[in-house]
Amino acid sequence: MTIGFEQWRQAMRAARCGAALSIIFGLLVPFCGCERKPGGSAPKRQPAEQPAAATQEQSASQPAPGQAATRYVIGMSQCNLGEPWRQQMNADIRAAAEKHPELKVVFKDAENDTLRQRAHVEEFVSARVNLIIISPKEAAPLTEPVAKAIQAGIPVIVLDRRVLGDKYTCFIGADNQLIGREAGRWIVRQLGGRGRVVELKGLMTSTPGQDRHTGFREGIAGSDIEVIFEADMKWLEPDARREMESALARFDRIDLVYAHNDPGAHGAYLAAKAAGREKEMRFVGIDALPHEGVMYVRQGILDATFEYPTGGKEAIEVALKILAGQEVPKEITLGSRLFTKENVDQGGVPIEPTR
Ligand code: FRU
Repeated sequence: MTIGFEQWRQAMRAARCGAALSIIFGLLVPFCGCERKPGGSAPKRQPAEQPAAATQEQSASQPAPGQAATRYVIGMSQCNLGEPWRQQMNADIRAAAEKHPELKVVFKDAENDTLRQRAHVEEFVSARVNLIIISPKEAAPLTEPVAKAIQAGIPVIVLDRRVLGDKYTCFIGADNQLIGREAGRWIVRQLGGRGRVVELKGLMTSTPGQDRHTGFREGIAGSDIEVIFEADMKWLEPDARREMESALARFDRIDLVYAHNDPGAHGAYLAAKAAGREKEMRFVGIDALPHEGVMYVRQGILDATFEYPTGGKEAIEVALKILAGQEVPKEITLGSRLFTKENVDQGGVPIEPTR
């Protein structure tokens, strides 16, 4: 058996990381030899003969005695676990995977560090996991490691935030541009077509931030809504609070804050409350976790939140299909719901494109 330079290089990297098991496994078990055609038919995956134990930080399913042993190792690269929404995504993946004892999910948390996340994907490739799920921090820097995994014959499911290009197996996420547009239209209706708005943007090197911004601007186009202040709060509540303090210092009238996520909207609310001005304006966010955004709507802190589903359950459903050699769509678009105090008790209302 001949080993390509690239494979050797990866194996050496794995060895340097102390992943001795991985290197032996990587050299002895023939590479699947099945470069996955993105979106095409999926060759049945080679089951894992040895879980990639050396790379495990946390595993989802521990088969009880008598239960089926692990057949497939899934590497899950999470960009950070600082926000409740990302903890929920991992919990959704874990809960779905636990119903399938043949799956073992290895979770890695990049702690909001792009370089660390790149290294995690490379480690999964070196360890020859059967499939990778990634929720990337930023699009551009994670594109190459994901493409390399595909080249190495490892299918990759991209969740929530995109990479660039088409070198992945399946993307799963809600339509952020639609959510931004519908948020914009809802805001136009609430403000009677005119008003002074603050936009607190998610990380603008990530695709949901870009799409929630573009969609919002489309939604308010043609109205007399004026965006008087905009800032990148990088999805983080403390940053949103700080940016909002600047907005409050500069503007003596703000009608509404549109934040790209609920932590951002909550940070803005806390800044306004500290300034004694929270009643002067409305707050709109995105995510709608039951114990976060939806609870804020019930408490009267947010006027609206738009659901952003984690896609964790769907990722495991798609992973099972890929591992069984079935075709999967290149894109899976998840639905969203709008929660306001009027509809929160009935579970919100689905978002449909208006106009
Ligand atoms: C969590 C988060 C969510 C947001 C999503 C966008 O890290 O910021 O609040 O909806 O990421 O990718």
